[in-house]
Amino acid sequence: MAEGLHGREKLVFLETFGCQMNENDSERMLGLLKGLSYTRTKDPSDADLIIINTCSIRDKAEQKVYSILGRFKSLKKERPWLVIVVAGCVAQQEGEKLLKRAPHLDIVFGPHNVHKLKELLLQADSGRKVVVTEQTGEISPEEYGIEPVELEEKAFVSIMRGCNNFCSYCIVPYTRGREVSRKSADILSEIEGLVEKGIKEVTLLGQNVNSYGTGGGGDDMSFPELLRKVCRVEGLSRVRFITSHPKDISDELIRLFGEEPRLCRHVHLPVQSGSDGVLAAMGRGYSVEYYLSKVWLLKKLYPEMAITTDIIVGFPGESEADYEATMSLLRTVRFDNIFSFMYSPRPGTTAAGLPDQIPLEVRSERLQRLQEEQKEITNERMRGLLGRTLDVLVEGESKIDASELSGRTSCNRIVNFPAPVWLQAGPGCLIEVTITEAYQNSLRGEVRAAGC
Ligand code: 5AD
Ligand code: SF4
Repeated sequence: MAEGLHGREKLVFLETFGCQMNENDSERMLGLLKGLSYTRTKDPSDADLIIINTCSIRDKAEQKVYSILGRFKSLKKERPWLVIVVAGCVAQQEGEKLLKRAPHLDIVFGPHNVHKLKELLLQADSGRKVVVTEQTGEISPEEYGIEPVELEEKAFVSIMRGCNNFCSYCIVPYTRGREVSRKSADILSEIEGLVEKGIKEVTLLGQNVNSYGTGGGGDDMSFPELLRKVCRVEGLSRVRFITSHPKDISDELIRLFGEEPRLCRHVHLPVQSGSDGVLAAMGRGYSVEYYLSKVWLLKKLYPEMAITTDIIVGFPGESEADYEATMSLLRTVRFDNIFSFMYSPRPGTTAAGLPDQIPLEVRSERLQRLQEEQKEITNERMRGLLGRTLDVLVEGESKIDASELSGRTSCNRIVNFPAPVWLQAGPGCLIEVTITEAYQNSLRGEVRAAGC
């Protein structure tokens, strides 16, 4: 009998890999576990429950999970009541295989089954091994809206899950299933509840938020309509969203930035490549020219808008000329920041079976050159903010110097600043800061005024 589920306070060690969706899933797990008297520990050797929330988007994700599980084998011997769980995309992909290769594992569940955690723990408590990888075509209200345990000034809110795009390199449509939207009423009531608890900023999450309401689930509301309603929730200071697919970003959405002052001036618009040939092979559904037309429109209407992107180098068949086209796109757009990756073949995806896979050394060298190029651009974009006075939402102590405070601009840049004696601002306050120093990853400034 697992002592961990009875009597005394119990400890959970939870490690999260990957995207914000996974972070949100982990927050929901912690919310559910709070109801079972679990608190979080940073030390796995103290834990009654260990959860690894996995990501399979790149690299040798499965091997990484097996090696982490190996570390926990001896813990299970010392603490036989310990329950070990693998959740997330590797769990979805590997299912039963995980149990076979790691017999000390108790529970495996995929991203559609987070809300079943309590029930699964009870089954494990009676000594059963459990694997749940079912995917459902709808989202019931109880799946989301679980109160986060570590409430701060900002929160993620999932508005949909899955993806129908099947970009040829990507595992997500397989691990997270088809696109399903949550009901707008459920999303809005979750956000109203968060605001009551003191949340000032929400980030709406989806693999492709622009297609909200057009796949399964949801209702008649489009993404811009939902976004407008969220921006108008009383008590909220800021609204963000990720991720937008360039092919679906509408003029209505672009106009919204000019109409809703709480909508943050930041768009993450993954381009992936600057070559039309590579984009076609990736199945992205747009050309470089089309992508640029969206970027120029955003920059023309909102000169202060931050635009960030994702780039993959070394996609199968990417020639030196294709790669140079991506470098040239970087120099043309001058993104505020990029997230760049070496192409990584994912089992079962179309691209993994394509001829002309690019050798690791070439992929690695291309990635390095790209990142060096972007470093200069990011620096230049950051320096461009010197002397500007920006709205900053206070988040807490600075990570660089604990005697200072830290927050983020509407464009999502970190700003550290000394708190003047007159300032009574805590997390969640909006203040004005004049930028005096610019670095690669953060800004520093002086407080001008506080709005709370
Ligand atoms: N290899 C490398 N990068 C990938 N991404 C998704 N799949 C792969 C892959 N197989 C990147 C894309 C996506 C981001 C979340 O991860 O750039 O936008
Ligand atoms: Fe993957 Fe493409 Fe869907 Fe993004 S849009 S999750 S890259 S399949």
